[in-house]
Amino acid sequence: MIGITGASGKLGSRVLASVRDCLGADNVIGLARIPSNLPGSGRWADFDQPDSLEVAFAGVETLLFVASNAPDPARMVQHAAVVAAATAARVGRVVYTSLVDCDRRATPVDKMHSATEDLIRRSGMSWTFLRNGEYTENWINFVSVSEYATTGLVRANVGGARLVSATRDDLAEATATVMLGKGHAGKTYDLTGDRLWGFAELAAAVERATSRPVMYRNVSNDEQRRLFQRRGLPAHVVDLMMDVHREIRVGGFARPATDLTQLLGREPQSMEDAVAAAVGHGESP
Ligand SMILES: NC(=O)c1ccc[n+]([C@@H]2O[C@H](COP(=O)([O-])OP(=O)(O)OC[C@H]3O[C@@H](n4cnc5c(N)ncnc54)[C@H](OP(=O)(O)O)[C@@H]3O)[C@@H](O)[C@H]2O)c1
Repeated sequence: MIGITGASGKLGSRVLASVRDCLGADNVIGLARIPSNLPGSGRWADFDQPDSLEVAFAGVETLLFVASNAPDPARMVQHAAVVAAATAARVGRVVYTSLVDCDRRATPVDKMHSATEDLIRRSGMSWTFLRNGEYTENWINFVSVSEYATTGLVRANVGGARLVSATRDDLAEATATVMLGKGHAGKTYDLTGDRLWGFAELAAAVERATSRPVMYRNVSNDEQRRLFQRRGLPAHVVDLMMDVHREIRVGGFARPATDLTQLLGREPQSMEDAVAAAVGHGESP
């Protein structure tokens, strides 16, 4: 039996659908705070209710542990509860959605992912770490693409820095491959793009996709914070994204990787294709 936490979320729901398509509904269980929101049957698993977890994990051989989206440091308490319950429930292997290069940087989110990996390594369970790259959607979603096209500006505080990233669809597909395949125990995968992109290129991609003039403007840290706040992000996500941008400025997300390409068996979706797809799906003004 495969169990999937965060099955109500954007990443987990995609993996749940793919794995169920292959193995059938009886062999895959979605785990969520409100299981009635899941397609098909699910179990109640609330990271803040440790008692729910061991029951939820009963009979699960391979657990996809999708990292929580709670603020740090509360998230670490939740993650410790998940690892303890999975160990007690005798889960065979945990597949954890970590963060690419979390052991090379020192922001709160990097430390949280590294500490969670350490807990899992020490638990005695078999493991696979999927070190996900920054989601391309962090910069390309309905709000941001609309904003770029209507203002004619991509604004960011990262100067000419470049990064690699990956789309949720590609990460979900690679994750399903790992959940369904063999030979992944004890492996750490860097799941991010193999091509660097910068914010001037993002502006050019939005211009091409929307046929509106768009240019890149470097902005101050204060203006960047206001931009994130105006997009309606919760305060802890604004802080997290400010950390991400600080790391981007110093090349902290600029290490291309090929693991995603190998797991997908094709090139990952590029930033340019993700912009075109977002606009094609109506994610423009
Ligand atoms: N690398 C990046 O750029 C990036 C960007 C965004 C997120 N992330 C990380 O990747 C994870 C998955 O991404 P996503 O896009 O799928 O995020 P998402 O759509 O926000 O999903 C987060 C999931 O975590 C679940 N969750 C939150 N608190 C929980 C709790 N107390 N107990 C049980 N489940 C809980 C949510 O359940 P509910 O439906 O009950 O809320 C939801 O299913 C995120 O949680 C975050 O750690 C990474």
